Amino acid sequence: MEKLLFELSREGKRGLDLPECDVEEVSLEEVVGREYLRRELKLPRVSQPEVVRHFTRLSQLNFSIDTNFYPLGSCTMKYNPRVNEAVASLPGFTEVHPLQDDETVQGVLEAAYLLKEYLKELGGFAEVSLQPAAGAQGELLGLLLIAAYHRDRGNDKKDTVLIPDSAHGTNPASAAIAGFRVLTVKSDAGGELDWEDFKKKLDDRVAALMITNPNTLGIFERRIKEMADALHEVDALLYMDGANFNALVGRMRPGDWGVDVMHFNLHKTFSTPHGGGGPGSGPVGVSERLKPYLPVPQVEFDGERYYLNWENPKSVGKVLTFYGHVGVWLRALAYVLTYGKEIFKVADHAILNARYLRKKLEGLFNDPYAGVPCMHEFVLSATNLKKYGVRALDVAKRMLDFGVHPPTMYFPLIVPEALMIEPTETESKETLDRFAQICAKIVEEAKTDPQKLKNAPHTTPVRRIKEAEANRRPILKFPL
Ligand SMILES: Cc1ncc(COP(=O)(O)O)c(C=O)c1O
Repeated sequence: MEKLLFELSREGKRGLDLPECDVEEVSLEEVVGREYLRRELKLPRVSQPEVVRHFTRLSQLNFSIDTNFYPLGSCTMKYNPRVNEAVASLPGFTEVHPLQDDETVQGVLEAAYLLKEYLKELGGFAEVSLQPAAGAQGELLGLLLIAAYHRDRGNDKKDTVLIPDSAHGTNPASAAIAGFRVLTVKSDAGGELDWEDFKKKLDDRVAALMITNPNTLGIFERRIKEMADALHEVDALLYMDGANFNALVGRMRPGDWGVDVMHFNLHKTFSTPHGGGGPGSGPVGVSERLKPYLPVPQVEFDGERYYLNWENPKSVGKVLTFYGHVGVWLRALAYVLTYGKEIFKVADHAILNARYLRKKLEGLFNDPYAGVPCMHEFVLSATNLKKYGVRALDVAKRMLDFGVHPPTMYFPLIVPEALMIEPTETESKETLDRFAQICAKIVEEAKTDPQKLKNAPHTTPVRRIKEAEANRRPILKFPL
């Protein structure tokens, strides 16, 4: 295990020599008062090289998209162009304060306004709010907008949200937090929403259907327009989870299908270093129906100046302190502008890479939806290795020894021993070929030396952890 700086500490060591004091010395105790001084403040006593080596070592312990292939399905861990970082680090953006007067932050407001307009255009929406901090918060906002719409129309029967069984866990969680009853709709044999089950469950109580497209199996929901029509007929709305928008961007616009509300995951589709809890941004695009309920403030342009508009009598209010995650907006704007009119290439290459890799992996694992074309990701099943006592978890752990991040495991829940693979559009053919070779080697090992997989990983600083316990009882502090 890596040592903490406190464990490296030795009395008398120091990492910094301060210059001679050239002003009159004063006693801190006299200035701030004795009771405010923390006498027991224990700082580690370490030399400068020890500190540099410590943090450099730590930075190399984790997996990152900058060092390794990271095919984590649904999470879209793609390369983040450095130009985004340069833009987001400009002092004109980093050194402003959210309470500054609009007149003094025209550049930030212009950037926000531009991004909002691009998202409207790319999604086909009447309006966009940039406020939510992440996809899941965008979902919650979308559902609050749907609730506000039905309330406003005096329709108090609408208490149910339909969600397919392939959905990401945040979907039912958001619906429940927004006060809705969740009713699960089955997927059919081809991995799409089961039409009969959907129609059976679509009644007067349904406030909305919440569906991901392409769905979490990486399969395109071809009847999305029919879904919108059927829903609108009973005054229900269509929520589309836009986490997989990188498969559509520049090629298709959910607003054109009749989608009423969708969250964008800026940190996936439009790049931003994410994972491990952030940072993110989940703007929400809406159709005309939901426009009146959007959160305040909204960034507007009056032809001469940009300003924050706080006027909206029917607004659901605010979902975040201040206005949103500006740093992620700026990265997304830089990304959109870099591609310009060629942004459809993101979708084309994401799909091409996924289809190529799926073909390369043919025969190694079970493919529960073989024959159904995939979009930007695909889900395989490691059930074929069960006879050797090997599970998807063992395959994933062994991948770490080869220097690649494992795919998402055990999700979607409807595929047993799931391995959900999303190569993303930024990977080369060579990387995909190498990954396929690694998978072939691991499957061979499963047959000839399954124990090697069961004991994996062998080369990482931490071996197998008790994952459930680490989640439920994380020990996040060090006893000094
Ligand atoms: C399909 C889908 N929906 C929603 C989310 C939630 O997004 P976020 O992690 O930004 O809250 C994710 C994230 O993994 C996702 O994959």
